[in-house]
Amino acid sequence: MIKVTFIEPDGNVRTLEGPDNGQSVMELARANGIAGITADCGGACACATCHCYLSDEWRELVGPPDDVEEMTLDMAPNLRPESRLTCQIQLRPELDGLRLTVAPN
Ligand code: FES
Repeated sequence: MIKVTFIEPDGNVRTLEGPDNGQSVMELARANGIAGITADCGGACACATCHCYLSDEWRELVGPPDDVEEMTLDMAPNLRPESRLTCQIQLRPELDGLRLTVAPN
């Protein structure tokens, strides 16, 4: 299990434990009712309602978005250079301690 900390849009901070077996950050968030991650498309990288911001440090470890994610991110409100889609980030051992901020919708 690894730990992931979410900062919800209202500033509430929640740390969850999840399996490091490739489940997505979005799935962990939805299973635990993290505010601001509605994930309307169910993880198909088509809705941008699982939008978050990652710090520089974590962006490097997570890796860059692929072309499809970039295109979907273009639909996201409040887009920033540090934006990512949580359905496209898979939980794996090196992401233990991941900290992200849920983007406001
Ligand atoms: S859940 Fe729809 S883009 Fe991530």
